[in-house]
Amino acid sequence: MKKLVDFLEEEMKAAFEKAGYDGSFAKVTLSNRPDLCEYQCNGAMAAAKTYHKAPIMIAGDVLTHLQESEALEDVQAVNPGFINMKVKKEFLSSYAEEMRKSGQLGVEHAAQKKRIIMDFGGANVAKPLHVGHLRSAVIGESLKRILRFKGHEVIGDVHLGDWGYQMGLVITELQKRNPDLPYFDEQFTGEYPEEAPFTINDLEEIYPYASAYAKEHEEYKEEALKATFELQNGRRGYRALWKHIMNVSIADLKKNYENLNVTFDLWKGEADAQPYIPDMVEMLKEKGFAHLDQGALVVDVKEETDTKEIPPCMILKSDGAALYDTTDLATLVEREELYQPDEVIYVVDKRQELHFVQVFRCAKKTGIVPEDTKLTFIGFGTMNGKDGKPFKTRAGGVMRLSDLIREINEEMSQKIAENRTVAPEEAEKTAQMVGLAALKYGDLSNQASKDYVFDLDKFSSFEGNTGPYILYTIVRIKSILNKYAENGGNLDTCSVKAPHSDSERALMLEAAKFTAVLDQAYEELAPHKICGYIYDLANSFNRFYHDNRILGEEDEEKKQGYIALLDLVRTILETSIDLLGFEAPERM
Ligand code: ARG
Repeated sequence: MKKLVDFLEEEMKAAFEKAGYDGSFAKVTLSNRPDLCEYQCNGAMAAAKTYHKAPIMIAGDVLTHLQESEALEDVQAVNPGFINMKVKKEFLSSYAEEMRKSGQLGVEHAAQKKRIIMDFGGANVAKPLHVGHLRSAVIGESLKRILRFKGHEVIGDVHLGDWGYQMGLVITELQKRNPDLPYFDEQFTGEYPEEAPFTINDLEEIYPYASAYAKEHEEYKEEALKATFELQNGRRGYRALWKHIMNVSIADLKKNYENLNVTFDLWKGEADAQPYIPDMVEMLKEKGFAHLDQGALVVDVKEETDTKEIPPCMILKSDGAALYDTTDLATLVEREELYQPDEVIYVVDKRQELHFVQVFRCAKKTGIVPEDTKLTFIGFGTMNGKDGKPFKTRAGGVMRLSDLIREINEEMSQKIAENRTVAPEEAEKTAQMVGLAALKYGDLSNQASKDYVFDLDKFSSFEGNTGPYILYTIVRIKSILNKYAENGGNLDTCSVKAPHSDSERALMLEAAKFTAVLDQAYEELAPHKICGYIYDLANSFNRFYHDNRILGEEDEEKKQGYIALLDLVRTILETSIDLLGFEAPERM
């Protein structure tokens, strides 16, 4: 469905042309003075130079051709040459009604369907999921949904950190504690037990312990590095242990992501890319892309236009070990071989930007990725505490995601209980839903690249620009619509009517913007545009709600129009929060 503003622009263009001016001047935008008008066109000012004529005269000429407009009313030429306008009532209501009747609220699929791999999540196996991984999951999930809404095929890959030093640390510590297990016996040729010799709770304790211990004890660290090396080189017992660590850890990660309403199509990781490394390295050498630099194998990626130093991509260390660059390049080889994506989008901490600049350049330059495959990096900022420093526990440690979620749910449970609108059996589930909205909206309402302050009091408030406020608005609308149906009303026979009051008109106008907002969020890969919009929409609804009797309205026609409008607003809000990755309860 065409955007509302495009209809206006079409009419404006026709009027410019009828008046003898070039149609390209007829750009229509939302008004920046909503007190004066709803939309505006500044084209007469631009045309003045071309036609050597006063802008106000041009605006006047154009106006004479807008008298019979279908979509515009109250069109005025204002000094020095603005054209101010409002949307015609009937046009607005029929546009809103058409949105309501269209699939996806009139949002169309992209002209070209793309296959997109989204690399987000990025959890590290054997280490607890911490708040640093929260943003990748929350932002990535929302982008995935937005891209699918626009008709693309999106493959979400969690891309686990499952091949690093942490594995060596865990193996070393396990050996210290249980030296007699067959995994450590190099002579052992039998079958290893099917069950892991540890639980997730053990793992959660072992990793931080071993990591801290290695920092203080050089020979322990050496052992862990050796174990990492041997694991990566195929030592049988270590591989078997690694599988156990993977299984136990992934089961737990899945639960954590599920609690966040975040899902992945692929549970692949760095380890899956390893088999692609030898051939890739061979190719880089053979084609002359890679050269030795102080014993290390590197690929230069600097470009003439660089304003700062971009160091080479590191392929192999002098001891032959692969690095982070290597793994990400090999993952691109793998993705190309298995999926031939049109685009790969990475949602990763913006502090890793340089790494991705290097990897992208290297992949393009060496043909690992075809010329026309798009590689996109969405770098997000840090989640800080109220002190402005990276978010920590009260004790000053790294905050676990599961603890953070527990804290939010407790806070929400209390509020829900105070409200007393939800039955006690339902309260816990409701608190979880509202808590998730608080968490996700608090994150997504900020531009992703910016740092933001995690403020539980603010995020969990039922007032202001928060997730709970949006949910509260949805619940309120749903309750009106339910009552209407309970009293025998039929939503299907209602339709949006020309607005009767300013607040109804403002709500309708806001609703009609959805198509444009969604496309902007999609084009800029910016969920915060959706947040900003639904906050405005919720405010418009609440103003309308306070100014009008809805179910109590005596004029049946009018009431049906209200109900249809509410139905539209509810669908927009519910669709939007689904795109943000959370949902609304029935009551709260
Ligand atoms: N595991 C990494 C970390 O915790 C993030 C991975 C991001 N994705 C990637 N393809 N490098 O920092």
